Amino acid sequence: MSPNVFDGLASGYDLGMWPLERAILHRLRRRAFSIGQGSVLELGVGTGVNLPFYGSEARVTAMDASPQMLRHAARRRTRASVRFVQADVHHLPFADGSFDAVTGSLLFCSVEDPSRALAEVRRALRPGGRLILIEHTRGTGLGAWLTDRLHPLWYRWNGVCRLNRETTRAVIRAGFQEVREERHLLGIVRRIEGVK
Ligand SMILES: C[S@@+](CC[C@H](N)C(=O)[O-])C[C@H]1O[C@@H](n2cnc3c(N)ncnc32)[C@H](O)[C@@H]1O
Repeated sequence: MSPNVFDGLASGYDLGMWPLERAILHRLRRRAFSIGQGSVLELGVGTGVNLPFYGSEARVTAMDASPQMLRHAARRRTRASVRFVQADVHHLPFADGSFDAVTGSLLFCSVEDPSRALAEVRRALRPGGRLILIEHTRGTGLGAWLTDRLHPLWYRWNGVCRLNRETTRAVIRAGFQEVREERHLLGIVRRIEGVK
């Protein structure tokens, strides 16, 4: 399915996410994406919820496949200088080594081919550049049991979001170094970082 299913979700997205933002995401986003300076590529920027966290010296390229999501993101207040690009993460329209950091949140659950997308991300990062993700993933222990059980029903209903993606493994397999993660909510929400 085309990621442009997100066009139809854009206007209600922030309201729908509000309980999760309050419970955990806002706190995690603030810690992960308070990047003060440098060139940053944000993947799947959505309605731009992470944009307020970047510092005034950050030059952010905010990309998304959905024009409607980008329209909402463009209204977001931020101190950073931001340009918006409509693109697919499987084919990034940027030269090799363009960015000091690549960020993203809640994206890889809906990406068709995470290996291919992460290869593109790695190509667009400069050597030594950082990847910083907040993703919902397959949980650990009881969390794994839950996400595996709920995934088929959830995916059949929405057709785009997978509940049991092993995103940390995909980041390691893509060749990132120094990969570390912070797990929350039975491992279902993770902050994942790696270095090119
Ligand atoms: C669940 S939303 C997350 C939005 C935002 N990052 C957040 O944390 O709230 C997923 C976003 O990823 C975008 N997306 C999904 N697949 C994509 C792809 N292949 N290339 C670019 N953007 C994609 C969607 O359009 C949507 O805006």
